[in-house]
Amino acid sequence: MDVVVALSVAFLVFPFPSAAGALSPSYYDDNCPQHKSIVRSAVEKATSNDKTVPSALLRMHFHDCFIRGCDGSVLLDTKGKNRAEKDGPPNISLHAFYVIDNAKKALEAECPGVVSCADILAIAARDAIVVSGGPYWEVPNGRKDGRVSLASDTRQLPAPVSNISQLKQSFGQKGLSAKDLVALSGGHTLGFAHCSSFQNRIHNFNTTHDVDPTMNPSFASGLRSVCPAHNKVRNAGAPLDSSNLIFDNAYYKLLLQGKSMFSSDQALLATPKTKALVSKFANSRKAFERAFVNSMTKMSSLTGGEEIRRDCRVVN
Ligand code: HEM
Ligand SMILES: *[C@@H]1O[C@H](CO)[C@@H](O)[C@H](O)[C@H]1NC(C)=O
Ligand SMILES: *[C@@H]1O[C@H](CO)[C@@H](O)[C@H](O)[C@H]1NC(C)=O
Ligand SMILES: *[C@@H]1O[C@H](CO)[C@@H](O)[C@H](O)[C@H]1NC(C)=O
Repeated sequence: MDVVVALSVAFLVFPFPSAAGALSPSYYDDNCPQHKSIVRSAVEKATSNDKTVPSALLRMHFHDCFIRGCDGSVLLDTKGKNRAEKDGPPNISLHAFYVIDNAKKALEAECPGVVSCADILAIAARDAIVVSGGPYWEVPNGRKDGRVSLASDTRQLPAPVSNISQLKQSFGQKGLSAKDLVALSGGHTLGFAHCSSFQNRIHNFNTTHDVDPTMNPSFASGLRSVCPAHNKVRNAGAPLDSSNLIFDNAYYKLLLQGKSMFSSDQALLATPKTKALVSKFANSRKAFERAFVNSMTKMSSLTGGEEIRRDCRVVN
């Protein structure tokens, strides 16, 4: 492959090419060396009051990165007629934005105008993993904040009813591989799902089965009792895995037993390659952690913004 072809392929694979070499773990060493401990204490303080904070931060970062790159677009509030990403359809579990606000306030007091909201969120997502008993890694920094956030963009997020080809395509569009897909789906070791997110599997699955036959029957009936066909309880749902406050590999073990929540989780068993990775991660927490860190670093290097916001909820 000659250089021109190689470059254009690289640009096709990475639609946000400003990532190339721009991010660095030592980015704030001179201008805000205390940034890590500031973000870390905001995450720890919030988590001590509300155990759902780590899962919320991890999902927030994923949504941020998948729309316009990791540019803090998910943090912007709706303004006037412009409905923001956070008010788009799959926002049901997005919360804990105040944690980023608190970290930003503390950072602006110490090093004004230096640390981007997109970086704060990337660091907070790492810290969320750490406080949940998962691995630590150095987050490369230097992301810029974007000025655009559109509810209609949330269509780009993969849906819980996606099949394996749709998932691969969605991740592929972000330069992420099938291995990244399997490793990052391990984020579902933390948190909670509302009934609407797995309704398709437990009622009216298809014309021959009311319940997805790939689901463990007693697991499915447990979910059906929490989420009846015409569920009226607004916040009803179930934990994403049996140890949903701990960042471990239980998600993969449960997946192999037919105890995953979403069709998109179950879909990881649909091809030999992705299924082999599921088994590998189910057998080795270390292998999962290594792959997760690698794939998170890839996902969080999709950049796209242009400024350092003063307030994470509004553009400068
Ligand atoms: C593979 C495609 C993915 C799909 C289709 C998907 C879909 C979903 C859905 C539907 C929910 C539940 C929302 C609710 O009912 O409240 C959820 C929760 C969650 N997702 Fe994903 N997700 C995907 C990938 C990821 C990735 C890559 C991460 C992070 C690395 C992630 C982290 C989370 C977390 C932590 C939660 C729990 C949120 C909370 O409890 O507040 N997901 N996901
Ligand atoms: C989610 O979006 C709806 C409208 O689509 C909005 O009313 C609601 O406030 C949003 N929730 C969050 C947590 O942003
Ligand atoms: C995935 O879903 C799409 C859209 O419904 C469909 O065209 C495709 O054939 C499905 N692929 C698989 C592997 O089921
Ligand atoms: C319903 O789903 C099951 C399991 O995926 C499948 O075997 C069956 O063929 C499906 N039925 C129809 C009518 O699509």
